[in-house]
Amino acid sequence: MGKGLTILKIGGSVITCKNDEKRLREDTINQVVREIADARTDHLILVHGAGSFGHPQAAKHSEFGEDLVKNAFAVFDINTTVMELNTILVSSMISQGLPAVALHPMNFTILEDGRIYSMMTTQIEEMLDKGFVPVLHGDIVFDRKKGYAILSGDQIVTYLARDLQAQRVGLGVDVDGVIGSDGSVMEVITPQNVDEIIFDKGADLDVTGAMEGKVRELLELASYGISSCIFNGTKKGYIRRWLKGEKIPSTIISE
Ligand SMILES: Nc1ncnc2c1ncn2[C@@H]1O[C@H](COP(=O)(O)OP(=O)(O)OP(=O)(O)O)[C@@H](O)[C@H]1O
Ligand SMILES: [Mg+2]
Repeated sequence: MGKGLTILKIGGSVITCKNDEKRLREDTINQVVREIADARTDHLILVHGAGSFGHPQAAKHSEFGEDLVKNAFAVFDINTTVMELNTILVSSMISQGLPAVALHPMNFTILEDGRIYSMMTTQIEEMLDKGFVPVLHGDIVFDRKKGYAILSGDQIVTYLARDLQAQRVGLGVDVDGVIGSDGSVMEVITPQNVDEIIFDKGADLDVTGAMEGKVRELLELASYGISSCIFNGTKKGYIRRWLKGEKIPSTIISE
């Protein structure tokens, strides 16, 4: 894929109310989709988080145990809930004129102990070449060690960025970037300063490590030479401006 691929993650914190269960931020969804449509980015992969359409359900089913039928029900509950959110986003994108196509990671991914072991990305590459916008999401995925496990949208982003050699990687969240120990937004995070950050567990439910999980994931990506950008995806104009390559307030994660 090489030069030109853009991967944008829209956090579950942007498009849902994470302090509730299954509650959308409809105005923000409309705004985000309009901005993506306005930006007309070529070779764009969109990944979205689950927010309150996945984290609460995953937390409820956290003990999978030995009972296969209970396990299957948990898989069903988590997957169908996040697919509801995905359907809302994809249909909104299509109605705004974007050639968005849903791809459900559980159908083409295998995990090993929570990390991606294999993911069939050939289809994604070919879809991009034909001009489609693949829309993936955090999901519950078969794990060859654990049975089933949660795959975060953040891990999908970093896997695809490496596998397809993304040129730009951006993650929209509901805060202005990563807050450092002095209370202000950090401009750059590297392996040298990451340990100074105080990650707040926060009130919102996030089964994949919230901001800390995201930053650790992105630092690993940075170690392969791909830097990324965390910015506020709820602020009007930011997604459009980021997609167009304009400078916006953010935290850069780099080597
Ligand atoms: N040092 C920090 N700086 C900024 N945000 C932080 C920090 N520590 C914790 N957070 C929390 O991380 C949250 C963002 O991560 P979270 O995983 O909840 O969002 P998301 O990834 O968009 O959601 P999803 O996982 O559903 O996609 C912020 O809302 C904030 O409460
Ligand atoms: Mg998260």
